[in-house]
Amino acid sequence: MRLRQSVHFFLLGMFVGLSLSGLIYWGFNSIWYGNHLTGHLGRTDVASVSPWLAPIVWEGTFDATLIDSLCKQQNITIATTLFALGKYTRFLKDFLESAEEHYFVGFRVHYYLFTDQPEEVPNVKLGQERYLTVKKVPSLNRWQDISMGRMEILEKLIENELANEADYIFCLDVDTKFYGRWGVETLGRLVGVIHPWFFNVPRFIFTYEHRRKSQAYIPAGEGDYYYTAAAFGGSLKDVYKLTKTCREQMNIDAANSIEAIWHEESHLNKYFFYNKPSKLLSPEYLWRDISMSAGQVKIIRFSHVAKNNAEVRPNL
Ligand code: UDP
Ligand code: GAL
Ligand code: MN
Repeated sequence: MRLRQSVHFFLLGMFVGLSLSGLIYWGFNSIWYGNHLTGHLGRTDVASVSPWLAPIVWEGTFDATLIDSLCKQQNITIATTLFALGKYTRFLKDFLESAEEHYFVGFRVHYYLFTDQPEEVPNVKLGQERYLTVKKVPSLNRWQDISMGRMEILEKLIENELANEADYIFCLDVDTKFYGRWGVETLGRLVGVIHPWFFNVPRFIFTYEHRRKSQAYIPAGEGDYYYTAAAFGGSLKDVYKLTKTCREQMNIDAANSIEAIWHEESHLNKYFFYNKPSKLLSPEYLWRDISMSAGQVKIIRFSHVAKNNAEVRPNL
């Protein structure tokens, strides 16, 4: 009898003791470290910070509700530029409808759409505090010129019109569609998006311009990431400097009869090599095509749509 009682007391003591130490340990952790250091945010399968300490935004690295409420207090406007010339007007409806569903929902967005056919712009119902300005531009007969020409048009738009109209700007390809949240987690001084074909390959595969004659030249063995030109952004001041520099460098190339291998994308990569982005977006923010499998990309937020280049472009 005595023995049984002592065993019971012993077990009870053990239970109480262990529970108390657990409680103390938990309390100590949450009081001294908070749950942001010991909690669940962060990824172990991908880098979420660059070597110059710029965040790389992946699903699982931010608290959407928290950053939404922080940014709500700031009354910000995000200018968003789009180009739809020639047959690319066919992409506008899906782009705009999906953007209204997923892109900076609840924030003020002003789309600036450049097209050679304003009459082809679909009538998409925009939400509250969402605006669309259509601007007519001349048609061009080389897709490379349309794509590269965006830099100068963006430079002039920021210079002449945006100063008191917006805080941030994003410049996006139109042959794309949103499938998931693209929100205030993407805002920063200078923002680059990691190209969806080059996030998991060694640097020698990156398709930088390697000819010395071009202003976009990056020496072999150099460079940090390979960025897409289909999406980039940041503060007005920083994107202004980026677009102006790329436009100037492309003009020098033209005068020297050379066109960089991937057009303005090569110049953008050169720019980002010497002017590091303050924030990088993972390929969740520009995927290849929604139907392709995604590896570390757990959420496809924005993606190129499949298109037949020979059919939609004015030249090959
Ligand atoms: N673009 C256009 N009309 C054209 C070719 C290009 O409006 O005939 C614009 C459009 O905004 C497109 C961007 O230039 O998203 C980049 O061209 P494209 O998407 O063909 O390049 P890719 O992403 O296939 O390299
Ligand atoms: C392709 C893309 C091009 C260019 C190229 C760079 O996948 O369609 O626009 O970015 O990669 O190598
Ligand atoms: Mn495109």
